[in-house]
Amino acid sequence: MEIRLLTPETQKEIYPQVLEMLQEADADFVPPLSSRSSATQQSLTETKTRSTGVQEYFCQLQAQCFGAVFEEDKVIAFVSWKEDYTCEYIDALPNIYISTLIVRPQARGRGVTTALYKKLFARYTDRHIFTRTWSTNFAHIRVLEKYGFVCTNTLPNHRGNGIDTVYFQKSPT
Ligand SMILES: CC(C)(COP(=O)(O)OP(=O)(O)OC[C@H]1O[C@@H](n2cnc3c(N)ncnc32)[C@H](O)[C@@H]1OP(=O)(O)O)[C@@H](O)C(=O)NCCC(=O)NCCS
Repeated sequence: MEIRLLTPETQKEIYPQVLEMLQEADADFVPPLSSRSSATQQSLTETKTRSTGVQEYFCQLQAQCFGAVFEEDKVIAFVSWKEDYTCEYIDALPNIYISTLIVRPQARGRGVTTALYKKLFARYTDRHIFTRTWSTNFAHIRVLEKYGFVCTNTLPNHRGNGIDTVYFQKSPT
């Protein structure tokens, strides 16, 4: 397994695999990525599936930074983030906001995210790190808590009945 934080030039090389992974993992997200216009969309309660699938989401991801995990030249995981993103729930600067994270289904549960995050956080020790997920995403929340993230905001039922949006923050080390 090789982990790389990519440049704007090198990340283009993995776009076909990123699109494939967005399609493959679409329904793992709550709500599905194909019902969202972007990784920072604020309203996630009433969404509708788009005829273009994950295409709109994929297009806006390309303005972000990428890290990826390779195994025998194949991308088995990627993470995307924005630098110095602010919104109603995120105001500490300087920061990075982790917007999307996917591990291919066959590679899950092997510590791939844990290793990818280790590399990402080593680059950004001087920044606040933010992300959000849904309250039943126990695997992601487990990794965030292992790295010392704290929950800063909970939006009850934001993803549907009984499923909250949870914002997490890790302060500079
Ligand atoms: C969430 C996701 C990225 C995790 O990736 P991963 O590489 O499997 O994560 P890791 O193996 O590094 O760590 C997962 C941790 O969660 C734990 N875990 C897994 N399922 C769990 C569950 N249902 N309840 C509690 N803990 C769980 C694992 O035991 C592991 O903890 P450990 O290292 O202490 O044993 C992956 O499942 C995924 O791609 N899911 C679909 C997309 C997604 O949810 N992305 C994030 C959206 S915000």
